[in-house]
Amino acid sequence: MKITVTYGDALGQDTPLLVYGAWEEEALPAAIAALAEDGDWSGKFKHTLLLYPRGVLPARRLLLVGLGKRVAFSANRLREAAAVAAQRARDLKVERYSFELPTTERLALADAAQALVEGSLLGLYRFQQYKTDLGPEDQHEIAEITVISIIQDDAIAHGAAVGEVVARGVALARDLANGPGNDITPTKLGEVAQAIGERTGIQVTVLGPDELRQQGFGGLMGVAQGSQQPPRFIIMEHGAGGQGGSVPAGAPTVCLVGKGITFDTGGISLKPADHMDDMKMDMGGAAAVLGAMQVVGELKLPLHVVGLIGSAENMPSGTAYKPGDILKTLSGKTIEVLNTDAEGRVVLADALFYAQRYQPDGIIDLATLTGAVMVALGPHAIGVMSNDDSLCDRVLRAGEASSERAWRMPLWEPYQEMVKSDIADVKNAAGRPAGAITAAAFLSNFVGGLPWVHMDIAGTAWTDRPAIPYAPKGATGVGVRLLVQALREWAG
Ligand code: BES
Ligand code: MN
Ligand code: ZN
Repeated sequence: MKITVTYGDALGQDTPLLVYGAWEEEALPAAIAALAEDGDWSGKFKHTLLLYPRGVLPARRLLLVGLGKRVAFSANRLREAAAVAAQRARDLKVERYSFELPTTERLALADAAQALVEGSLLGLYRFQQYKTDLGPEDQHEIAEITVISIIQDDAIAHGAAVGEVVARGVALARDLANGPGNDITPTKLGEVAQAIGERTGIQVTVLGPDELRQQGFGGLMGVAQGSQQPPRFIIMEHGAGGQGGSVPAGAPTVCLVGKGITFDTGGISLKPADHMDDMKMDMGGAAAVLGAMQVVGELKLPLHVVGLIGSAENMPSGTAYKPGDILKTLSGKTIEVLNTDAEGRVVLADALFYAQRYQPDGIIDLATLTGAVMVALGPHAIGVMSNDDSLCDRVLRAGEASSERAWRMPLWEPYQEMVKSDIADVKNAAGRPAGAITAAAFLSNFVGGLPWVHMDIAGTAWTDRPAIPYAPKGATGVGVRLLVQALREWAG
């Protein structure tokens, strides 16, 4: 798929399909109005109308897509409208189409172009690499989308290029989280990280069981010990020592930390069979970190960004860790394991402690950590907990701007009391009340007081009933767009 940008009059384009966004309660341009008669067109948000201009315009087909009212327009509305249009275009089996970039004072040109491209590419996302007898419907791919604008401004080409890079990062995260547990193993995540490093120049180190044991990753090793799959700890460093010249020496350092449980059976505290298959997505945090690191590397962001992923498979077996076990983590702190299904926080304990060695200006972790966050916020918001108001505001703002919305929950002292253990330093499970918060309270013990934001994406990383046109069924890739937004803003 190729994205191109051209400048000129969209209605003069010779193209198999011209997509034209039109406003609710506003007149269509005369040339189009003549085609859409009898009140068939309302301009209502996401409504579409396919027209055949038959020589009235050079375009063979014209797809009107409703942008809604001008005053309610936003990057996200454009992203959604673009996804709807892209899906219609694919159903029409066109090879290529042109999309007139809608412009308003409400939206900067670069942001509009980025949203248009993101929405189109993410709306076209399909996960079908495991299907062996695809029909022509499923095989048809659009080869080229042209963004056309009457306003000639490099910001449009730049925004479109960013949108393309971001969409590929999200698609990578989706592919990994949709991928089955027997293929997407900790080993595989390490290989994916290495490949990103080779493509972008990001420095990648992958630690295996021997190094992890020797260096004292007692949390990660504890969770991994029940599985035949060897664990991995993945370190990706962008801008190490001003690498590549694109990262200034004094640039802020940000650590992105991902939970990479490639399958979560619950371990000895085994989960019920229903929907257990969904737990192949329990590396959604790791997938978001990999996707975001790829974008950071491709955009050459002038920031020092370190991606850290703790990856293991959580299995029940004769060698598995058990309820009652006490693990000594990388930090030296001890964890009493009360429930082997609360494995994510045990792995993150080591990864968060490891982040401290970079003395980062911020640590942001992403994890499909608790069912409780789904109860609290449903599928519409990431649960956020933090020890630092200013870093937290950065993340919340980026969530708003990228429409990956996040909502903060408190992390007060009484919650800290709930995770203290009678016989070890902390316990990994504290019962049902405030389950998302006590998980965060547990994690806070391993960040050494550095500015830190925890994002619980258990409710948002997967969708069975798609509510957003650019997030079809399955893995959503949530987190990538928010992280990229936050980092680009931080880079200034
Ligand atoms: N991976 C799960 C959380 C999860 C649930 C993610 C649903 C996505 C969808 C996590 O490891 C887990 O099992 N958490 C337990 C913690 C409890 C035992 C304290 C939970 O939420 O029930
Ligand atoms: Mn679990
Ligand atoms: Zn889990």
